[in-house]
Amino acid sequence: MIFRLSDFQFPDSAARLYPATQGHPWVLEVGFGDGRFWPHFARTFAAPPNYLGVEISGVSLLKAHRRLQGAGLDNAVLTKLPADVLVREVVPHGALDLIVVNFPDPWPKAGHTEHRLLRAPFFQLAASRLKPGGALLLTTDHDEYFEFACAEAEASGVMAVDTAQAPPPAALETKYALKWRDLGLGVNHARFTPTAHPPVPHGAVAAYPADLAPLPESAVPHAVLTLPKTFDPTHFEKQTVRAGRATVVLLDLYASLRRDGWVALAHVVEGELTQEVLVGVTAREDGSHLVRLAKFGGPIITPGVKAAVGAVTDWLEGQGAVIRHRGY
Ligand SMILES: C[S@@+](CC[C@H](N)C(=O)[O-])C[C@H]1O[C@@H](n2cnc3c(N)ncnc32)[C@H](O)[C@@H]1O
Repeated sequence: MIFRLSDFQFPDSAARLYPATQGHPWVLEVGFGDGRFWPHFARTFAAPPNYLGVEISGVSLLKAHRRLQGAGLDNAVLTKLPADVLVREVVPHGALDLIVVNFPDPWPKAGHTEHRLLRAPFFQLAASRLKPGGALLLTTDHDEYFEFACAEAEASGVMAVDTAQAPPPAALETKYALKWRDLGLGVNHARFTPTAHPPVPHGAVAAYPADLAPLPESAVPHAVLTLPKTFDPTHFEKQTVRAGRATVVLLDLYASLRRDGWVALAHVVEGELTQEVLVGVTAREDGSHLVRLAKFGGPIITPGVKAAVGAVTDWLEGQGAVIRHRGY
């Protein structure tokens, strides 16, 4: 099943995601590509573990989804998100039996190492979400990234590093494993085992009530205001607002063709979580205007998203609007 971020709870639970296979081990695969690992690996268990797969490529998501459906692997949840967002926001503490990372993007150029996934903060996050006895498995052709990841795991202070074991055979059947094998390259494998389970907190979404769906209309961030007769939307300029951990960039303001309002496009960054949201400004029958988060795109209502509604409201106030009500 494919999940969008807004389909999850924050944090979610294996019992909710896999009601028919509760109690099975829970495996997360990061960067599953075209999804070849899981059908091979799942076959090595008497009953397939519950599977959570995260990818940032939409094309890969669809390919892998087709493959897992074809293999009859029903207890699988696939999602298109950056891995650190999924792990931080969705995965509960001490919940996973295994995290698998096969052939991660190596970011080989000097100065690009900050793009690598397997850095100390990710190992701390992973350790916090793994069960006691759980492990993170890395298989890669890339010698330099392998050494980098092992050093980062040591530096995290919460992972023991074991490089003596062979990779699971399924990790040698992925698209990239076959590609590098054809080129005659070898593989490196490490098993990272938590030595501590640091309480790395859930992020921006968890600051909002745990069960987000569906929100009553009154809880959708909004404001009611009266615009001055002189209001001129062409005065809008791109602006950046900081609110707590969030940065909100109001990018643009678009007029509705019905000529009764506008829509502001906002970029909201909270830690690793980034959302593009629309905030509508719509005329009401009594002459006032309603400023409200649009449901388009299924935004997750975080403190930063509320701040985006606040930023639009504040800008309108700066243009002479009289605020009647703030509901955010
Ligand atoms: C080199 S490919 C390996 C794919 C697959 N594991 C294999 O072995 O064939 C790396 C994959 O990781 C995905 N990826 C990169 N960064 C990611 C991130 N932050 N979160 C989730 N997936 C990511 C990429 O889209 C790509 O599909």
